[in-house]
Amino acid sequence: MAFDIARIRAAYPALTEGFVHFDGAGGTQTAAGVIDAVTDVMRAAVGNRSAAFEPGRRSLELVAAARSAVADLLGAEPDGVVLGPSATALTYTLARTLGAGWRPGDEVVVSRLDHDANVRPWVQAAEAAGATVRWAEFDRHTGELPTGQYADLVGERTRLVAVTAGSNAIGTVPDVPAIAKIAHSVGALVCVDGVHSVPHGPTDLASLGADVLVTSAYKWSGPHLAAMVADPARWAALRPAKLVPSADAAPDRFEYGTPSFALLAGVTAAVDHLAGLDPDAVGDRRARLRAGLAAAQAHEEALLDRLLAGLAARPAITVYGSPARRCPTVSFRVAGMSPAATQRALGDAGFCLSSGDYYAYEYFQTMGLRDSGGAVRASIYHYNTADEVDRLLAELDAVADRTGTMAR
Ligand SMILES: Cc1ncc(COP(=O)(O)O)c(C=O)c1O
Repeated sequence: MAFDIARIRAAYPALTEGFVHFDGAGGTQTAAGVIDAVTDVMRAAVGNRSAAFEPGRRSLELVAAARSAVADLLGAEPDGVVLGPSATALTYTLARTLGAGWRPGDEVVVSRLDHDANVRPWVQAAEAAGATVRWAEFDRHTGELPTGQYADLVGERTRLVAVTAGSNAIGTVPDVPAIAKIAHSVGALVCVDGVHSVPHGPTDLASLGADVLVTSAYKWSGPHLAAMVADPARWAALRPAKLVPSADAAPDRFEYGTPSFALLAGVTAAVDHLAGLDPDAVGDRRARLRAGLAAAQAHEEALLDRLLAGLAARPAITVYGSPARRCPTVSFRVAGMSPAATQRALGDAGFCLSSGDYYAYEYFQTMGLRDSGGAVRASIYHYNTADEVDRLLAELDAVADRTGTMAR
């Protein structure tokens, strides 16, 4: 199916403002269906969860619908979906819960390719338990995360392996199934950060080998909420710290406070939006999600190739990493310009890109780039166009000309 980009873009009201958004990795624009769903809930009579009256039943249904939508998106069970305010908050909840059972001598494995949200909660939980942290290193040239090292990093005392399914800095897609296999051979738990990968293609919890997978809806056209999914039996076996009177059943007991019911409607609508990306797709929502996200992935990969070729043709631009399998996300620098200055110059021309370390702290620290400002990140999402890629490249030339940098 040809990706009907005009139809896709029409579903995002914010795109009419005319900015060029290469900042999806920091948060995508919101789909119209999401805005409508959130607004409808805010206009309707909605009470706190109660089966006793209709507005209370509505909020119960909003929670159930969001669990079921996220389950379809990730290939999980609705009862395996923990909802929360952000991936960071959910990972901290899990790290504190698991860490309470760790002992001195236990080990956890984290990677220097990961966003700090899938590093620091584990490092701090390990420190609190007296457990040892072991680090998986990436290849500085390619940006790959070699799988082979996990055979050495993982041992009898490994309790947890935390790894990303897609680097938010340079796009690398590590071989998570192979890493998970090594972790599972010693009974370690695998916690996968799917925040950057989930927006860019079909995701399946089981094929990834993930015991826990985390995703944030604001990276896939939805509101600022997140989810953490696992087999329901996993949640049933864990006891997080919680208020005495709050729900004791899993997964509810992992969710703190009263949920944002209106935004949960937005999560469901965002999943429905993704399920509609391929208008010819048939079958249940999970099948339509796979088709829609596969179509989006093909579109994004073509744009990524175009962007990478354009950047490679400009000698003054340095692109970091060249991983074989990657999300459509590129970090680069223009010679003679700080990343912040490049970002600002592009921003002045209406191009939205991130600069700095985007919390991929260990990556930029290891590369020796953090103290000098990190890099500039162009991240592609399915509403981007080939014309936008060409305009970004032209603007980089213009920026370089204005500042006297020889970008070409
Ligand atoms: C790969 C990755 N993991 C985790 C996070 C943290 O997500 P949240 O803002 O939902 O805490 C981000 C946010 O940028 C991310 O890109």
